[in-house]
Amino acid sequence: QMRNALNKLADSVKDEESRNRSEIELDSFFTLFRRYLVEKASGNTLEWDRIKSPNPEEVVEYSVIQQQPEQVANLSKLAVLKLNGGLGTSMGCVGPKSVIEVRDGNTFLDLSVRQIEYLNRQYDSDVPLLLMNSFNTDSDTAHLIKKYTGNRIRIRSFNQSRFPRVFKDSLLPVPSSYDDDLDAWYPPGHGDLFESLHASGELDALIAQGRDVLFVSNGDNLGATVDLKILNHMIETGAEYIMELTDKTRADVKGGTLISYDGQVRLLEVAQVPKEHVDEFKNIRKFKNFNTNNLWINLKAVKRLIESSSLQMEIIPNQKTIKRGGHEINVLQLETACGAAIRHFEGAHGVVVPRSRFLPVKTCSDLFLVKSDLFELEHGALQLDASRFGPNPLIKLGSHFKKVSDFNAHVPHIPKIVELDHLTITGNVFLGKGVHLKGTVIIVCSEGQRIDIPNGSVLENVVITGNLQI
Ligand code: UTP
Repeated sequence: QMRNALNKLADSVKDEESRNRSEIELDSFFTLFRRYLVEKASGNTLEWDRIKSPNPEEVVEYSVIQQQPEQVANLSKLAVLKLNGGLGTSMGCVGPKSVIEVRDGNTFLDLSVRQIEYLNRQYDSDVPLLLMNSFNTDSDTAHLIKKYTGNRIRIRSFNQSRFPRVFKDSLLPVPSSYDDDLDAWYPPGHGDLFESLHASGELDALIAQGRDVLFVSNGDNLGATVDLKILNHMIETGAEYIMELTDKTRADVKGGTLISYDGQVRLLEVAQVPKEHVDEFKNIRKFKNFNTNNLWINLKAVKRLIESSSLQMEIIPNQKTIKRGGHEINVLQLETACGAAIRHFEGAHGVVVPRSRFLPVKTCSDLFLVKSDLFELEHGALQLDASRFGPNPLIKLGSHFKKVSDFNAHVPHIPKIVELDHLTITGNVFLGKGVHLKGTVIIVCSEGQRIDIPNGSVLENVVITGNLQI
């Protein structure tokens, strides 16, 4: 039934060019879907007792890598790729997430471009920047990158696959034709990188240019800069895949971790952990570090694995509701993550990097941090203020600060926070200009009220509720 429905979808494609790509996509989708059914039926899960902590060769400390030389010549073998398929919906924005302004008028995309431009200028290199877009982000991104045409940077974009969502009950495809509504389709996670890189022709083009190593990272990780020492380590060891990990804190217990399984390095995500072991998984002493999604990948290895159909990543079923004919309906989308591909590559291992290489912006609380004086912007990269010791402050902003537009209205000027440890703000709170926060500051405004923090206020270890200051 699924095959027939997919054939119908393929037949509904009108132009020749789209037909070729969509046939490849629908075939890949069918393979993924079939694997999902088989794995669901066989209850294919990891055996907890066979999971071992990785040894020092499987997860290498950055202090070891630091002894590597910075071989500038290696840059001729490098390409950088930003995962750019995601939307800014979780931060209340329309369009690609990468177009959100994060620092001094620069978007995520601007910062990535500036970083690579600077790298090329500094070392007289020609490292290209690739963007993997989805059908959701493609046209906005194309429009935005036009402004870089005259700059010292080669930007290449390609689209990841567009897969049909399926009805949760019948497991049949939601779209009935190729031009069906956009919400009938989905981008199948960043694990799709390998196939889309191949199908778009970019993989062969990069290999032909001698670009053997691809540095991949999330478009919203501002800490993911090119590290010449890791690049050299990758080339020297001949590893086909390196995953950057960083030490877990209690705030990121859910992140995927590397394990040793039957002598192989694998990524273990919380969704794969049997219920009775979830607490153990979250224990930061047993599973010390987690995946930053900064990945260094050998492109010839990708070609070999794709062409032999050997890349099988764990399937992440993701349930959603969409509106059809005025009704809410439950749909399912099958996704994969590129970190899960690690087990297929020769010599693959993890490197535990400093936390500064993991600076994701997922919420406006993160935005507060990266816009602040805690960081300085240097050639597109954020550097932590030298006078800051210890971990970054813990910032918790309530629902009034969920959307970027609301956040900007409530915090038009970011306070000074170099000496801040913890900030909680809930309710309708507005911060004035030149505010200075130190220690632990908690501001709680009850519903229906409003708190204005006056210009120039210095708040140190205070709790403010209503109009009362304690
Ligand atoms: P996610 O939304 O997966 O973020 O996007 P996350 O919750 O941090 O998840 P993981 O743990 O990294 O998977 C991560 C990056 O991947 C891109 C997004 O644009 C973002 O840069 N992405 C995500 C794609 O390019 N395509 C997708 O299908 C999904």
